[in-house]
Amino acid sequence: MSEQVHVVWHDHQVSREDHEKLNGHKGCVVWFTGLSACGKSTVANLVDHKLHAAGKHSFVLDGDNVRMGLNAAPGLLKERHGEEFAKRFGLGFSAQDREENIRRIGAVANLFAQAGLITLTAFISPYRRDRDHVRAAMKDGDFVEIFVDAPLEVCEARDPKGLYKKARAGELKGFTGIDDPYEAPTKPELVLDAGQKDAETLADEVIAYLKKSGKLG
Ligand SMILES: Nc1ncnc2c1ncn2[C@@H]1O[C@H](COP(=O)(O)OP(=O)(O)O)[C@@H](O)[C@H]1O
Ligand SMILES: [Mg+2]
Repeated sequence: MSEQVHVVWHDHQVSREDHEKLNGHKGCVVWFTGLSACGKSTVANLVDHKLHAAGKHSFVLDGDNVRMGLNAAPGLLKERHGEEFAKRFGLGFSAQDREENIRRIGAVANLFAQAGLITLTAFISPYRRDRDHVRAAMKDGDFVEIFVDAPLEVCEARDPKGLYKKARAGELKGFTGIDDPYEAPTKPELVLDAGQKDAETLADEVIAYLKKSGKLG
């Protein structure tokens, strides 16, 4: 018998509905996906700012912040807990580690939704299957997938961290869009034209979608 069998979902005394009632809006996960430098973090943070200003409870889960703790890279864990620990629990950038990275983020975001929060996640999350697994683990309607669609040439020209340059030079292996695939969503709730429109306009489009779909109360 697996350990899994003994794990039972615990209903909280304060229910999700109680949290949502107090917050005055629904909990959900707004999942931004797209190439590096397409604008995920920028738009997610703008939406967060606008929601906060409107009295909504939101929170951004973003790449490096998550990889510093919950999904720490092996290098970081080695410094803190030694080599053996880093090997067992560290997450790098292989397809398998990316899958686990996204699974954990999805699980945390799902818990946040139970707390009535609007969670905005800003990860490349390049593999369709991994995103679909996150969606499948959530209640219908909780997962709002937003494709931040900017052409590779545009992202590469922006390259604020110089990552594309390094990838082109062969100094970074397995970089999404260069030598690792990006699989665009087939049925996202929303597509943002991030190569043409400014981030402010895109954030307003996200807010408009959340309003229209009844998430904001
Ligand atoms: N819609 C946009 N139009 C023009 N530049 C943008 C837009 N969105 C983001 N940027 C700029 O592109 C760069 C990458 O944005 P960022 O949000 O960090 O991307 P990601 O989180 O997807 O890697 C930043 O310098 C940002 O200011
Ligand atoms: Mg980012």
